[in-house]
Amino acid sequence: MKRFVTASFFALVLVLLGTRLVSAGGMRQVPNVVAGAQLYDKWFAVLGVQPPQGDMPIWGRQSTNSRSGAETWRCAECHGWDYRGVDGAYATGSHKTGFPSLMIATASLSQEEIIAHLKGANDSQHDFSAYLDDASMQQLAVFLKEGLVDDSKYIDPASLKVIDGDVEHGKSLFDSTCAKCHGADGKKIIFRTEGVDEYLGDVAHRDPYRFLHRTRFGVAGTEMPVGFSLGWTPADGRDVLAYVQSLPEAQTSVEVTGAGEGSTPAPQDVGGPSDNWLSGIFTGILAALGTIGTAILFLFFIVMIGVAVVFVLRRSK
Ligand code: HEC
Ligand code: HEC
Repeated sequence: MKRFVTASFFALVLVLLGTRLVSAGGMRQVPNVVAGAQLYDKWFAVLGVQPPQGDMPIWGRQSTNSRSGAETWRCAECHGWDYRGVDGAYATGSHKTGFPSLMIATASLSQEEIIAHLKGANDSQHDFSAYLDDASMQQLAVFLKEGLVDDSKYIDPASLKVIDGDVEHGKSLFDSTCAKCHGADGKKIIFRTEGVDEYLGDVAHRDPYRFLHRTRFGVAGTEMPVGFSLGWTPADGRDVLAYVQSLPEAQTSVEVTGAGEGSTPAPQDVGGPSDNWLSGIFTGILAALGTIGTAILFLFFIVMIGVAVVFVLRRSK
């Protein structure tokens, strides 16, 4: 009897430890995908560094996109908010570069191959190793493998409206999670994008893919609940987009001729350095508290089991 109880106690502890490790392994991918997505958006803002001087060396291979400097170093500017490069929204318009889609390519590449590519293994001009540390490259690769969503079948290429979105469902998600900061009409935060003021409604209408990317993964340096961490499905994101497309716009007179035209790489100023490090410290403290909390709970649990076992052993004597 005693032996049986001891054996089952150890078995239980092993199982508990096992599930804890597995769930930690499974959960680690969520922050990695989100971090990778924000690096894809604007890696130098995520890392809090100055963008490299001048244009990205590959930039000179095209002449259709006339932007220069920092923008030319962003993954999103070359490969698109829809990740489909020349096959997607940036096939035309002022963002056109002719650079390739990552949607199909990254499905067949391994994480290691993607990282090698970011280190210039296939093209020495596509070498980010002077700027991105190994952890960031890893996060980018995880994002490219696990975070990409192909929404192209659900966004009308001419009107940029969501096809078959559930507007009512989108409204309930928006009102419960987003309205407190953005306002029920999406006008509370005004985005300044390449010199133009935009409400959330403008972003949704003029640049649906940027809206989707940032709704799912957030914006570097901004505290905001993001769909990917909330467990939203790709359709949930599109439903919210469909609803926000019905909200007021600041730039009603702007003619939208396709996602390539209305699309802009980012609000010019997201937060500010002081904001960034302060919120970074808060996030850090919160995360640490969270981890310590789970650890204490777990220890408490084990101790309780131990007490129970001792109790049972005593009684069976
Ligand atoms: C200045 C434009 C530009 C920027 C910025 C850029 N890329 Fe690329 N990327 C390209 C071009 C052009 C190719 C194809 C030629 C080559 O391999 O260099 C490519 C290829 C790739 C490939 C390989 C695709 C395949 O078919 O094998 C991956 C993965 C990739 N890029 C990811 C990224 C990531 C992640 C970032 C941001 C850190 C990024 N790129 C930034 C232009 C760019
Ligand atoms: C805690 C406040 C807060 C909440 C809640 C919040 N946001 Fe945000 N959101 C922000 C801030 C701050 C920014 C960045 C403003 C800036 O560009 O400086 C932002 C930016 C965005 C952007 C990028 C806009 C652009 O110009 O590219 C999108 C899209 C967005 N939010 C959608 C959402 C959605 C959808 C929700 C609900 C899931 C949500 N937000 C919830 C504060 C919030």
